[in-house]
Amino acid sequence: MCDVPSESCIDGFDGHVYQVKSDIMLRPLTEEDASESLEVVNKNRDRLAKWLPWVEGTNNVKDEIQYIREARNSIMHGEKLEMGLFYKSNSEKNEAKLIGACGFVKIQGKTGQLGYWLDEDYMGQGIVTDSCKTLIDVGVNFLGLKTIEIVVQPNNVQSIHVAKRLGFETNSEPCTTDCYGKKTKAITFKIEK
Ligand SMILES: CC(C)(COP(=O)(O)OP(=O)(O)OC[C@H]1O[C@@H](n2cnc3c(N)ncnc32)[C@H](O)[C@@H]1OP(=O)(O)O)[C@@H](O)C(=O)NCCC(=O)NCCS
Repeated sequence: MCDVPSESCIDGFDGHVYQVKSDIMLRPLTEEDASESLEVVNKNRDRLAKWLPWVEGTNNVKDEIQYIREARNSIMHGEKLEMGLFYKSNSEKNEAKLIGACGFVKIQGKTGQLGYWLDEDYMGQGIVTDSCKTLIDVGVNFLGLKTIEIVVQPNNVQSIHVAKRLGFETNSEPCTTDCYGKKTKAITFKIEK
């Protein structure tokens, strides 16, 4: 187990693939994913923009490429571990399809904050819940995290369901917090390992 943040530790995660289930995997995005990622964001734009402030500033491939560069840089510096969420049907020979994202949107000392979003066509199957389970395992066993958080707006019912289903708990009232650079009222759900 390695200490976080440590460049040499997180460095090994770039390009790494995490198999969540036989047809679901997580991996850091590369610039080659930019167009596909923008397509999925565009398809789900209105729904995602309600909860995720970065959506408003993501409008073209150039924005996506910049995000991907920053995300990869953050992995190298141990500050985040954001990954694309991919689906590949066991029976199809097609390439894996980008269907969302799931990862640590903030890593500070021994605390990691999970974030996620999903293409509407893939909701309601437990994909994000399972992906979070994989990430909690990675966070605890490979990044040495002791506390994992999910910061949710009080009316984001589906995200709260994910947190509760994973066994996260809260004892805090909604308070103003930074959500991707925007001040928002949110509840922090936590799990201690
Ligand atoms: C938050 C979000 C990712 C949740 O998507 P989701 O599909 O509900 O989550 P999961 O993939 O974990 O699926 C769970 C749902 O599938 C159902 N399900 C079906 N089979 C399941 C299984 N095997 N395991 C777990 N859940 C299963 C669950 O009952 C649950 O539905 P419910 O909440 O109505 O009870 C989605 O609403 C989203 O993209 N929201 C916009 C972005 C966002 O808000 N991000 C979070 C910011 S904090």
